[in-house]
Amino acid sequence: MTDPATDPRTDTPPGAPADHRWPTGVVGLGYGGDYNPEQWPLETQLEDVELMQQAGVNLVSVAIFAWATIEPREGEYHFDWLDDVLDRLHAAGIRVALATATASPPPWLTARHPEILPRLADGTVLWQGGRQAYSVTHPVFRRYATAMAARIAERYADHPALALWHIDNEIGCHVPRDYSDAAAAAFRDWLRARYGTVDALNDAWGTAFWSQRYGDVADVLPPFTAPTYPNPTQQLDFDRFSSDAMLDYYRDLRDAVRQHTPHVPVTTNFMTSTSTKGMDYFGWAREVDVVATDHYTVAADEEREVELALSADLTRGVARGRPWILMEHSTSAVNWQPRNRPKAPGEMLRNSLAHVARGADSVMFFQWRQSVAGAEKYHSAMVPHAGTDSEVWRGTLGLGRALEALAEVRGSRVRADVALVFDYEAWWAVELDSHPSVDVTYVDRMRAYHRELWRRGVTVDVVEPGADLTGYRLVLVPTLYLVRDEHAAAITRAAEDGATVVVTYFSGIVDEHDHVRPGGYPGAFRELLGVRTEEFAPLLAGEQVALDDGTSVSVWTEKVHLAGATAVRTLASGPLAGTPALTRRTVGSGAAWYEAARLDDVALSRLVDALLGETRVQPAAAAPPGVEVVRRHGEQHSYLFVLNHTDAEHRVPADGTDLLTGTTHQGEVPVPAWGAVVVREG
Ligand code: GAL
Repeated sequence: MTDPATDPRTDTPPGAPADHRWPTGVVGLGYGGDYNPEQWPLETQLEDVELMQQAGVNLVSVAIFAWATIEPREGEYHFDWLDDVLDRLHAAGIRVALATATASPPPWLTARHPEILPRLADGTVLWQGGRQAYSVTHPVFRRYATAMAARIAERYADHPALALWHIDNEIGCHVPRDYSDAAAAAFRDWLRARYGTVDALNDAWGTAFWSQRYGDVADVLPPFTAPTYPNPTQQLDFDRFSSDAMLDYYRDLRDAVRQHTPHVPVTTNFMTSTSTKGMDYFGWAREVDVVATDHYTVAADEEREVELALSADLTRGVARGRPWILMEHSTSAVNWQPRNRPKAPGEMLRNSLAHVARGADSVMFFQWRQSVAGAEKYHSAMVPHAGTDSEVWRGTLGLGRALEALAEVRGSRVRADVALVFDYEAWWAVELDSHPSVDVTYVDRMRAYHRELWRRGVTVDVVEPGADLTGYRLVLVPTLYLVRDEHAAAITRAAEDGATVVVTYFSGIVDEHDHVRPGGYPGAFRELLGVRTEEFAPLLAGEQVALDDGTSVSVWTEKVHLAGATAVRTLASGPLAGTPALTRRTVGSGAAWYEAARLDDVALSRLVDALLGETRVQPAAAAPPGVEVVRRHGEQHSYLFVLNHTDAEHRVPADGTDLLTGTTHQGEVPVPAWGAVVVREG
């Protein structure tokens, strides 16, 4: 057994906390991708290693989907090929994130044990033939999966290429909610542990309604497709349970590999983004040694670089500010969107550096070499179908050079004056059915505020409710529909201590059981905001209401009364004319704003200008529209990342050396169209 603190393979940057774990032996920034050699003949595998060396690859994820290759028939193990792959990678100086091979059970397992297959809410069985056809709660699957993880760990415990454990793959990607019998039984156990008695469960779920009272927890089912809305708290608890159950599965596999390799850090690839809500990654992050995530831009999203920035800020938040691994993204097109457009010139480099700018210390892809068979054959890779005479391969080489030039950035941290409070439970709860308006979604306001700040070059930390808000000058609380008392209190305290807090409509409405906080909305924030709402008044699809300054609102208004706050904007027309749409209250040395109606882009932009004015929060640099700026702070230097998402060259005020070209600039730095610079300052 090796002590991680003294293990020479643990390459920890200066100043990192004692429990900082990182893939062992990775020097500088990590670079690589998923490597699936089992799809290729030996001669291609030999070429792979040469090409990896050319590109500067230093870390690859291996064996993610290799179970059926390793164990084609039950009990028959073929490890020789994997031994050779790891030996070759090691000889080439490439470190390995070794997977547990459990991400897709082999056909013999599901054929022999169909009871491990997951189910949808309507009872449909999800059969073998794709991937992830397993129920994380089924004891039979758990037994086979942990045995496979342990077997791999035992075999490779002392392999010198082993740098990191990669547990399963994107747990919950295809089956975030499983309604199988095994899941139902595990749900009941989870409820017994949570509530103790059936009466406590009845109280929490409000089962006096619609004759839903349970006499015994044994009668509880998952929230199957029902004649009408299933009990909301049952649905919410099923979300909580499902996230916990998948995490429990991860933990079992983690412990299985740790037993053999306590010196090797363990991770699993999260999917932190504005479109994946199945897993509570703030909780999950406590169980990994290093946060790793996958992120894919959506080609049809015209603001995909802004969504990427928010997702990366969320990942940094989940990682609690520590460096993280971008475990997967794409060099160009994916295969799973309706129309899979390739990335534009420079987009892959900008995407990669945007993640680094926001705290990633590794840039990796799905996948190393583009498959010729299977469902992902049209998904781009670092080595495309076209081979090395291609833009994609030249991009792979270019990114390798860029990351090498940025090696010293590793371990530096991002700092922000703005916090955005983000909560998976609130996301689950606000998007339950039978609510005032289907147009109120969790990410809408979050994306809107973040976008305004992104445009102004202001960096945002995404934090969980209850996080320490000390030092943040601006605290954004978008759509925090469900909030616990102590978390609402922490937000109130931030304002009392001098922060400007902004709460958006449909926040603070329910407690952790999804019970309304009565006495006027928004219950948990009524006093802080100095308002009292007697009734919601959502708008119809496409409806707009003018405000007193000529801007407008859509989606949401409410009958809000001032109770200590001042109206900053009011509705100028409609049945609620004269009612506040935006309010402000001075609180101690801080302030509390309430967005009581969904402001249009112009109104929100004005609000954000006012917020930055009153908090004196500054951008990372004064940059023209479409030019993204973020700063990382190291022990000796800071690093200004400037990413030009426009088709014209721009200049940004900065002094220092562009690490990508080695050129020193004084006063201002030119940034080519669609290009990037990273300035070492000081
Ligand atoms: C991820 C997955 C990879 C690959 C990729 C394609 O969700 O982890 O295995 O399928 O998507 O974009």
